[in-house]
Amino acid sequence: MKLTPQQVEQFDRDGYLFFPGLFTAAEVRALNDAVPALYRLREAFNVREKGSEAVRTNFAAHLYSEPFARLARHPRMIEPVQQLLGEALYMHQFKINGKMAFEGDVWQWHQDYGTWLNDDLMPTERAMNVAIFLDDVNAFNGPLMFIPGSHRKGVAEAEHDVTTTSYPLWTLNPALVAELVERAGGKQGGIVSPLGPAGSMILFHSCLVHASGSNLSPWNRVSVYLSLCAVSNHIRRHKRPEYIAHRDFAPIECLPEDCLLREHKVDLPWKNGMPASALVTSLQPLGEAT
Ligand code: SIN
Ligand code: MN
Repeated sequence: MKLTPQQVEQFDRDGYLFFPGLFTAAEVRALNDAVPALYRLREAFNVREKGSEAVRTNFAAHLYSEPFARLARHPRMIEPVQQLLGEALYMHQFKINGKMAFEGDVWQWHQDYGTWLNDDLMPTERAMNVAIFLDDVNAFNGPLMFIPGSHRKGVAEAEHDVTTTSYPLWTLNPALVAELVERAGGKQGGIVSPLGPAGSMILFHSCLVHASGSNLSPWNRVSVYLSLCAVSNHIRRHKRPEYIAHRDFAPIECLPEDCLLREHKVDLPWKNGMPASALVTSLQPLGEAT
């Protein structure tokens, strides 16, 4: 899928692009059907909500689940990001966020690049998020909130919040968020939430400031997030386990357009379990003597 010059301009201005209903109901079903079995696994890669059994985030399913391994190579997601970053991409992070009915907790205001810089020593912001809705997203089930244009600020100072939710995050302080919202138009468009049917896709810049509220509705809000990084911009430290921040910097090769609906051979290196090496971490930058 190729972006038009107008879409590229809009992305540069707003920091995101929204494609409602880009994937068909049959494609979404192929993915959705695999989620309950993944969420049942008692593995470190399933992070549950604080004090609850509900899965907040499943990591790295593209390494052990056939449909998600195919999605991770889908040209509708990979090609536009390759176009915007002008380089081959590798998978830095792969998540299926639950935001389950009644139980899905908040994601505080943050920029993803803040975490990738502070934890993983990713050299620059040349990385991108792609979200696919596996459920309809409405005003009630904890939609993403964006501050349009906030990516142009670059990386902002952040604090490591390890207590608010079950997942540590580098978060922005409220005064900065308020200032950015005001600058983006205040009550007139300073915060936006892309809402749409299952199968919708969002591309968003790694410095775009975003958050989401809790899900008090009776509707799940399962979404997949690919974090794609330019190969030359690969992370320089393995401070986090490999299921969170990947260590295979090989360029992604796309499958055909119909890959979610037909058999296509994909590698599933963690199909029989995650290797022990994936849990080994280090504070030392890559290549430096310990
Ligand atoms: C994220 O920011 O990484 C996830 C936010 C969400 O799923 O609402
Ligand atoms: Mn994020």
